Amino acid sequence: MRKSKLDLGKLVTIESGKILQEGLGEVQEMIDICDFSVGLSRQLYGLTMPSERAGHRIQEIWHPLGTVGIVTSFNFPVAVLSWNFAIATICGNVSLWKPSPKTPITALAVYEIWKNAVQRYGNKELAKNIFTIVNGDKEQAEWIAKDRRINLVSLTGSTEMGKNLGRMVTERFGKLIMELGGNNAMIVTPSANMKLATRAIIFSAVGTSGQRCTTLRRVIAHNSIYDDLTEQLKIHYKNIRLGNPLKDDVLIGPIINEEIFQKMTDVLNECKLKGGRVFGGERITIEGKGVYVTPAIVELDKPEVITKTETFAPILYLVPYEKLDDAIKIQNDVPQGLASCIFSNDLLETEQFIGQNGSDCGIVNVNIGPSGAEIGGAFGGEKETGGGRESGSDAWKSYMRRATITTNFSSKLPLSQGIDFDI
Ligand code: UN1
Repeated sequence: MRKSKLDLGKLVTIESGKILQEGLGEVQEMIDICDFSVGLSRQLYGLTMPSERAGHRIQEIWHPLGTVGIVTSFNFPVAVLSWNFAIATICGNVSLWKPSPKTPITALAVYEIWKNAVQRYGNKELAKNIFTIVNGDKEQAEWIAKDRRINLVSLTGSTEMGKNLGRMVTERFGKLIMELGGNNAMIVTPSANMKLATRAIIFSAVGTSGQRCTTLRRVIAHNSIYDDLTEQLKIHYKNIRLGNPLKDDVLIGPIINEEIFQKMTDVLNECKLKGGRVFGGERITIEGKGVYVTPAIVELDKPEVITKTETFAPILYLVPYEKLDDAIKIQNDVPQGLASCIFSNDLLETEQFIGQNGSDCGIVNVNIGPSGAEIGGAFGGEKETGGGRESGSDAWKSYMRRATITTNFSSKLPLSQGIDFDI
């Protein structure tokens, strides 16, 4: 993995359009999750509990599930597979991967690197079967969702995809991990460090051309700083370097296809009709192939219905607030629940935000943007984001089945709950 980092990073850039720094970052994410998994393989701990009965012991043992089906999206063709595959493997499973039809070549390259590594270091017979790839589209994804031999299906992509395929998996009582759409927000309070907030907004709103599940889609800014922040953002948006993603100084590459551009244009037109003030969102021509669009800012006086939908394009909505309670309400009032953050130097505000009545998302950040999570934490979100957790922490538990074992090492047979049943 380490040896292939540059080549694979470039391939990610060529096929998905993300800039080279991000392509490399994604490969690094794969390396990191491998390191993590190697250590984790010795830590698949089960608990031992005291029994209410004398001479008895209760314990948990975790077993592999069998086969794990992994369906991934174009925007993270390396990292998301790896979160799933690396953990699934050290949990003793075999994996079947269906990558996005938009990034099949990166997928084949990843597959070859994995295969070589596993063959070099593992049992050769086992290595042949530990990981398989099927390049395809909806038909192959549906097969994975429906096939009873696939014990766990991990789905990453749109909420619509998750709804369709997820239903097929649960109909056959298959296990499911879903990491679907987000509608990620940042609350910027009067005490925030504005320089940090501005940098975080730019990276998380325009990075990856607005095509991360964790992309910042909404900024909810306090009335007292709203105008200044908007002005700063517009200056940065105007000067952002857009172009060939392989070039060193470029910060935004192309979006994935025409369809997304059309969608983005339709959404921006709808915003204008609703009285939104739109900045950017223009198509530009750059040498070579690719659909290039300047990232857009939409100023709204209040959140509109359109802000409740995830448009997988670089559109950032700005909404003002007066009281933090209202800002949190606005943030949570969307169907998705992936990533969220607050920029504030006020402990009372940040504690409210991370508390049970604060953000309802799976990822809740303080003075950091919503995107760019490290692999060590559990990754995923609530509501229409699907509820699944992947990557670090104890996400491995979803890739195994738990056996609860009670052992009687006495010469009596007492029943639990004190039941008397003498024969
Ligand atoms: C995704 O877009 O599906 O937190 C995953 C992040 C990345 C992963 C994004 N580490 O932005």
